[in-house]
Parts: sequence; structure tokens; C-alpha cells
Amino acid sequence: MTRKDIERIAIESNKLLPVELEALVSREEDASLRSPGTAAHYYRFLYLLTKELKPSLSVELGTHTGISAACLAEGYPEGCVITVDCIQRVLDISRRPNVEYFHQDSLKLLNIAEKSIDVFFSDTYHDGIKPKQEYELYLPYIKEGGILMFDDISLLPEMKVFWENFKPQGEKFELPVHGWAGFGIVIKDGACS
Ligand SMILES: C[S@@+](CC[C@H](N)C(=O)[O-])C[C@H]1O[C@@H](n2cnc3c(N)ncnc32)[C@H](O)[C@@H]1O
Repeated sequence: MTRKDIERIAIESNKLLPVELEALVSREEDASLRSPGTAAHYYRFLYLLTKELKPSLSVELGTHTGISAACLAEGYPEGCVITVDCIQRVLDISRRPNVEYFHQDSLKLLNIAEKSIDVFFSDTYHDGIKPKQEYELYLPYIKEGGILMFDDISLLPEMKVFWENFKPQGEKFELPVHGWAGFGIVIKDGACS
């Protein structure tokens, strides 16, 4: 998947989803309701991304109530989503059968094979340090051409510094899917096509 494809999906995610998931995204999630400047349509983006990409494995660090994991999962029910949080507060309505919920610190490495992750979403502690640590820990486990996402890259000064200085192994850009809170993307280098 190219930057152009991802930017097109981001534009498509401005529209409401034609599935039940829309109710969860727009009514239940406090991040949507309180989102700065716009509805948090990164939820819709996550759904549309996995619908098109069909990832075998997505890993999310930062489950919260489980809505973003539900979006990743529902886009491609044949794939597996692993989501991690140090606090358990997943809503029943956001649980999906193809999601594995792990209750642990994001820096405790999951037991997965190298280069097995197609989609990686870092959304835990927004101190500008944790996202970098999570990236470094999981980089060997992400496929070449895999998509990495970082939420809230402009929300706090330390996140802005992180994103500005971040030199990932791949193409880095921002997507307008989370108001002024910011949403960062990296396409990991090395895909054949
Ligand atoms: C912004 S919320 C995640 C939102 C969710 N991804 C979504 O889009 O709806 C951040 C979550 O990260 C979790 N968290 C913070 N620090 C963590 C850590 N060190 N390890 C695991 N989870 C952590 C918090 O408990 C919180 O639920």
C-alpha cells in the first residue's frame, strides 16, 4: 500500500460508515465526542484501512475501551488483532471475536514471529518517549511495507518533538484524521512492489 492509497482512505473516512460500527465510533467513544476540531474519524480510517489492506496481524498498543481494536478487527474479520493495555476497561459492545486482549505493559514484548505484523498502532502514553520505545521494540516484528500509526502526535509539546525528530525506517507523513491532535503514519521500507 502506498502513501497515495493511505491518503485516499483518509479522505474516504470523512464519511459515516455504512455498518453498525458507526454507532460505536460516533456515539460510544469519548475520544470521538471530545475530539479536537473534528470527529475522531481515525476510527473510520482504521476500519477502511484493514478492509482494503486485509492484514493477517494487527498489533495495537493502547486498547482503552476497545473501539479502535474493534475498527481494526471489523475491517478484516479473517485477520487477527492483538491489543495491549495495562488497565482493563474494554466495553462489551466493542469486543470482537478476532481480537486478543492482553493486559500488560506495552513494552513487554508479545510472543510473535519476526516480520509478522502488517499494521502497528502506538497509542499509549503520550510523553514522546513511549512511542519511540514501542517503535524500537516492535520494528523487527513489522513486515517490510507494513503500516505504522502513531496517535496524538501534535497533542502535547513532547509529542511534537518526538514526531519532528523521529527518523523511522520508512516513509513518514501525517494524516488529517484526528483534528489538531494529529495522527502519524510510517510505511516501513522494503516492500517488493
Ligand atoms: C489514548 S488511550 C488508547 C485509545 C484507543 N487506542 C482508541 O483509539 O480508542 C491510551 C491507553 O493506553 C494505556 N496505557 C498507557 N500507558 C501504558 C503502558 N505503559 N502499557 C500499556 N498500556 C498503557 C492507557 O491505559 C489507555 O487505555
